[in-house]
Amino acid sequence: MNHLIDIMDLSVEEIDELIATARDIIANPEKYQEKCRYKKLATLFFEPSTRTRLSFEAAMMELGGKVLGFSDAGSSSSSKGESVSDTVAVVSGYADIIAMRHPKEGAPMVASMKSGVPIINAGDGGHNHPTQTLADLLTIKMEKGHFDNLTIGFCGDLKFGRTVHSLVAAMSRYPGVKFVLISPDELKLPSYVKNTYIKDKNIPYVQTNSLDDVIGELDILYMTRVQKERFFNEEDYLRLKDSYILTADKMKNASDDMIVMHPLPRVNEISTDIDSDKRACYFRQTKYGKYMRMALILKLLEVD
Ligand code: NCD
Repeated sequence: MNHLIDIMDLSVEEIDELIATARDIIANPEKYQEKCRYKKLATLFFEPSTRTRLSFEAAMMELGGKVLGFSDAGSSSSSKGESVSDTVAVVSGYADIIAMRHPKEGAPMVASMKSGVPIINAGDGGHNHPTQTLADLLTIKMEKGHFDNLTIGFCGDLKFGRTVHSLVAAMSRYPGVKFVLISPDELKLPSYVKNTYIKDKNIPYVQTNSLDDVIGELDILYMTRVQKERFFNEEDYLRLKDSYILTADKMKNASDDMIVMHPLPRVNEISTDIDSDKRACYFRQTKYGKYMRMALILKLLEVD
């Protein structure tokens, strides 16, 4: 059974294939509109989402398939105490493929052991978010043209930001990549991510509190939201939430071809006056996510 639990489940070659399929879908959408006729995607979202769930649903609809699911754990039997494994064992009898988001790290992996159909991790707690990484990778390919020799700055909540963990892992496989890790001390990249994907691979990196000091060196600035829902106390969140606010003024020190990415939702960390800057690509990034999810669904369902 094919699942996507961790971005490292996909080889670099498989990622290239998904990108090629996504680009072909963008160029020839009509070729794909019946590919998943009679197939169903279930979206089991035990945590809030806008883009991820709706882009999965739009992806399946654009492939001619149908969607079912829930967007609130409170409306599912998990509120009665049902385990994730039982929910998935049941739903895999109703759908051909399942996208699941869950607040517990590892829940989609556990689910995959009980599922008769492919499981896609649509975000598990503060751990991983592989399909956001697929969106991010297509964005980088479309905007920068290549993955090699890029200096990528990750800014904000690197501790709880699951999109950061998955993208660091994915980018660690391309030659000449450098990481710049910009966060308050309390929100540094977890050591398991740093050790596995940066230190053990001898990838050059810089760790800093200051965005201003490093913005001029970056090819990509990946901004993130401080993950309020993962904090143990509100006081810490309030103290840290506005650690970084990217403004037009700060952008003056960035190079002309640096791109600004963000998985969204944004709260305060990017001022809206940057939205019209050609370097801001976070809204384009959301569209790329839909095409990569279409390509992924085709791959996991083994549709030609
Ligand atoms: C991200 C997530 O859910 O981790 N959102 C998304 O899927 N685009 C980032 C976030 O919530 O901050």
